[in-house]
Amino acid sequence: MANLLLIVSGSVAAYKALELVRLARRAGHAVTPILTAGGARFVTKEALAGISGARVHDDLWAAEAEIGHIRLARAPDLVVVAPASADLLAKMAAGLADDLASTVLLATRAPVLVAPAMNPAMWAHPATVANMKALASRGVHLVGPEEGAMAEPESGPGRLAEPPAILAAIEALLHHGPLAGRHVVVTSGPTHENIDPVRYIANRSSGRQGHAIAAALAALGARVTLVSGPVAVPDPAGVTVVRIESARQMLAAVEAALPADAAVFAAAVADFRPTDVGSQKIKKVPGAPPPEIALTLNPDILATIAQRQVQRPALVVGFAAETESVVPHAQDKRLRKGCDWIVANDVSGDVMGGAENAVHLVTEAGVEDWPRLPKAEVARRLATRIAESLA
Ligand code: C5P
Repeated sequence: MANLLLIVSGSVAAYKALELVRLARRAGHAVTPILTAGGARFVTKEALAGISGARVHDDLWAAEAEIGHIRLARAPDLVVVAPASADLLAKMAAGLADDLASTVLLATRAPVLVAPAMNPAMWAHPATVANMKALASRGVHLVGPEEGAMAEPESGPGRLAEPPAILAAIEALLHHGPLAGRHVVVTSGPTHENIDPVRYIANRSSGRQGHAIAAALAALGARVTLVSGPVAVPDPAGVTVVRIESARQMLAAVEAALPADAAVFAAAVADFRPTDVGSQKIKKVPGAPPPEIALTLNPDILATIAQRQVQRPALVVGFAAETESVVPHAQDKRLRKGCDWIVANDVSGDVMGGAENAVHLVTEAGVEDWPRLPKAEVARRLATRIAESLA
């Protein structure tokens, strides 16, 4: 389906590149590997050649004699650097070209996806942070790194993204899959409603479920606009992210993103906002009673979009976070708001901000109870159902 150029640089995680090649080929892609000198310390040229079924390039001058680095750089639909070492990312940021991998990365016009892997201290170092910022500003796409078990007994992000997550990011960037040609708008995260210039009302939404849905839709080929409140989770690869703070900004951003084939409203929008936002910080007056904050109802973004007369997406999906009578409330909400589906979850436990979710899919046809699943799996199932519904 696509021609991928895979650059494998030096990291203990380089063995995972073999699994990535296997998955990419199974998905129908052709993979041409480039192995850096550092990468060759962790994975052999023979293993990469065997699994990719392609010639592995590891030397600038040999490649020059055979096909030329410019042709190597121009042929692929996408260049993937996995694992991407701190050293190679620094070279990319600086525009160095002293070996085959860095030369091809400087010469290519194809989109580039990097999957970093390094020690957490190296990832957090201001030099790496600055390099990543420079690469992002030039349109280089990022997947991972993740937190979790590493070769060293240290914690923090630095671990290479898992091969299926890297493949999902690849598919998202290629816009391949059953949702190719479709546009989906997703809302995610909390909103912040200003009280005064320094204070705001917020909630505990992490954005994990909404961001995972955006990533899963993109992995099925959709063009995704993710309208997100303030969150700490990274932007999904291959997704257009619009950052907002308040509910009113979120509504405006969603309307600006239309038309769309589907819309998924996973954000935890604040129902109320302070009526008057002063231009000065509210003072604590000694002896005086604390101020009262008057609240005004925010627009309901889901209901507004679901009830539009023009440019209503063909499929509008809302969420319902409930702590009791989850399904009846969701059925009621579906009708009241005018949306097509409601994904209902019981948030009485540790769902908000947590890694797992147990949901019920409420549609016109009835109710499906899904088992407790990682949020990424809930997202994949929902994206698959959306693709089937739009087909
Ligand atoms: O009414 P409730 O807040 O329970 O509805 C939840 C659903 O409505 C979610 O899909 C949420 O994103 C959406 N919503 C919205 N705008 C609001 C409040 C909720 O889009 N102001």
